[in-house]
Amino acid sequence: MTDLKSQINPEKIPQHIAIIMDGNGRWAKQKGMPRVLGHHSGVKSVREVTEAAAQIGVKYLTLYAFSTENWNRPPAEVTALMSLLVETIKGEIRDLNKNGVRLTAIGDIEALPAATLKTLKEGIEKTKDNQRITLVLALNYSAKWEILHATRKLAEEVKAGRLDPAQITEAVFEEELSTHGIPDPELLIRTSGEARLSNFLLWQVAYAELYFTPVYWPDFGQQELFEAILSFQNRERRFGRISEQLT
Ligand code: FPP
Repeated sequence: MTDLKSQINPEKIPQHIAIIMDGNGRWAKQKGMPRVLGHHSGVKSVREVTEAAAQIGVKYLTLYAFSTENWNRPPAEVTALMSLLVETIKGEIRDLNKNGVRLTAIGDIEALPAATLKTLKEGIEKTKDNQRITLVLALNYSAKWEILHATRKLAEEVKAGRLDPAQITEAVFEEELSTHGIPDPELLIRTSGEARLSNFLLWQVAYAELYFTPVYWPDFGQQELFEAILSFQNRERRFGRISEQLT
């Protein structure tokens, strides 16, 4: 196997990577297994990718674990996903602490089932002092929900006379997003061959490099992460400028 890790430029590591973990269901179907086993196998990828990202110095990893649209899945799958989250968070706290992983979440988490919310809050509390990498779980998240929520908050401030509309800058708006305090992702990865953003971090990915791979999430591990980072490092990020202005 080629040593991809040694080809990575340590000076150009994205500090924030966001991932749309897709293809668990198809991975399971391909193997003649129930979809839920695909999600179970997906947890192994979460573990491997988090550790690999931390090892090379990525500071934030955001994973799209459950979207607001995912409630429309068959109830048994929704229940299984919620139980898997509870089991996984409970089972991983010790390792998260051992590996310096701080857990946090974005999305409308207060609307999650009580048991999921309780475990999530415990996980966040028990890992809050870790500093090696922050693992952000997007749960009951959608970018349109987040943008509307921020807009409503600012509108209330204006109505109450505490904010002048002219003061609403990008920075002020970002304060109301669930990602406030987290730098924007420089790299967004989606697995399973789909090339869509599916309502994920629409504001925050304005300048992110997008990387789509046909690999299903349960087959996505350290090597696949390093391939994505190498692709990112070989791109020229111009932010609206021309090539010659970058040197
Ligand atoms: C997408 O595959 C996957 C999800 C909606 C759930 C992802 C959840 C996990 C990997 C487990 C969560 C655990 C933690 C701790 C984050 P899909 O079901 O949409 O696959 P398909 O498109 O092939 O049907």
